[in-house]
Amino acid sequence: MRVRPSGVRDHPDTRVPRSFRFWTPGCVLARRADHPSPRREPEHPVNTRRPPLLSASGLSVTYGGSVTAVCEVDLEVAEGETLALVGESGCGKSTLGRALLRLEPASAGTITFAGTDISRLSRAGLRLARADMQMVFQDPMGSLNPRRSIGAIIAEPLRQTRGVSVADALRRARELLERVGLSASMADRRPHEFSGGQRQRIGIARALASSPRFIVADEPVSALDVSVQAQVINLLGDLTRQENLTMVFISHDLGVVRHVATRVAVMYLGQIVEIADRDDFFAGPEHPYSEALLSAVPALRGDPSEVVRERIVLRGELPNPAAPPAGCRFNTRCAYATDLCLTETPALREITEGRMVRCHFPASDPDGRAVAAVDRDEDPIEHTAISSPTKEIA
Ligand SMILES: Nc1ncnc2c1ncn2[C@@H]1O[C@H](COP(=O)(O)OP(=O)(O)O)[C@@H](O)[C@H]1O
Ligand code: SF4
Ligand SMILES: [Mg+2]
Repeated sequence: MRVRPSGVRDHPDTRVPRSFRFWTPGCVLARRADHPSPRREPEHPVNTRRPPLLSASGLSVTYGGSVTAVCEVDLEVAEGETLALVGESGCGKSTLGRALLRLEPASAGTITFAGTDISRLSRAGLRLARADMQMVFQDPMGSLNPRRSIGAIIAEPLRQTRGVSVADALRRARELLERVGLSASMADRRPHEFSGGQRQRIGIARALASSPRFIVADEPVSALDVSVQAQVINLLGDLTRQENLTMVFISHDLGVVRHVATRVAVMYLGQIVEIADRDDFFAGPEHPYSEALLSAVPALRGDPSEVVRERIVLRGELPNPAAPPAGCRFNTRCAYATDLCLTETPALREITEGRMVRCHFPASDPDGRAVAAVDRDEDPIEHTAISSPTKEIA
């Protein structure tokens, strides 16, 4: 049995926002009593030693029997935190995000949510779990049925997962429209009557309808004009804080990630290669791939408060996930690679508390990097940046 932190209110419905409680059906209260989730203020930085709300162990997703888009991922997401999943296009972020919600079938591994192994839940069990786990998609238009009113669209997951009446679900939908900065009177309109930013607000309202505890937001602002990106990001940030939501935030935009995340996980070719608290990550990435990602962001490079980093341009393309390199998967593009990296796969290991890196020669081991340079018979100074660019990372 999980010990509840002091100061937690005892009502089983403490996680449901106060303003939403009037409509909360009895079945929700019963489920909360089964595994009460105390409502509390999020801590920053998040204490990742708390029992995780969600954890994945050895999670793999394979497409067509050969493309391992996600490869043996171990990941823990603590309640109340926003974990950003970053990496260049094709590295497996979306597949991992969907697999965490069981929207994508896993080929191996387990997913535990709120103490329950959801990897093998029946359809009925999964439908109940989905009430607590929702997704915000990148393309708001593509994910909203054009023939339905937005009231009905927002109400739908609530009816499916919580079994509430049509009238209650629509009442909740109108309330959520106000909550995301739109008007309740818009509930009868169709998706095409809204701008891109408004449609993403509708997508967020729909994800919140069943009062989930956990949300995966997959590139939620990358399809929006720059001018409205900040508004939607701020809305998501406010909602996660107010509702104590736990979020996996998928993005290739490190400027946005620095704004919303409490922790950062970097993916490369289906694997997590680094996990760090946000501030530690931006102050000094450990993995050579993270170093390249960070050095490529002009906004960060131009920030006077930032450590000035030499631009590192990655050579080559992301390798084919159907035939990943032996040893370290990053060895074909890494400036520090030695013979060891060609043969021995580095484990994702904790180098300081809460900080994980999958590399034989992380940045905090300059002596190791110097030895690696000697192994390559090269001057280590020359290799703080790669000088034969063929491709810039996103
Ligand atoms: N439905 C699919 N069928 C086959 N391959 C897929 C499918 N979805 C994604 N992939 C492949 O899986 C890999 C990871 O894709 P994805 O998860 O979309 O990456 P990201 O979100 O980081 O861009 C890519 O090589 C992609 O081509
Ligand atoms: S293990 Fe070797 S190839 Fe892989 S990232 Fe580290 S130094 Fe580069
Ligand atoms: Mg994606």
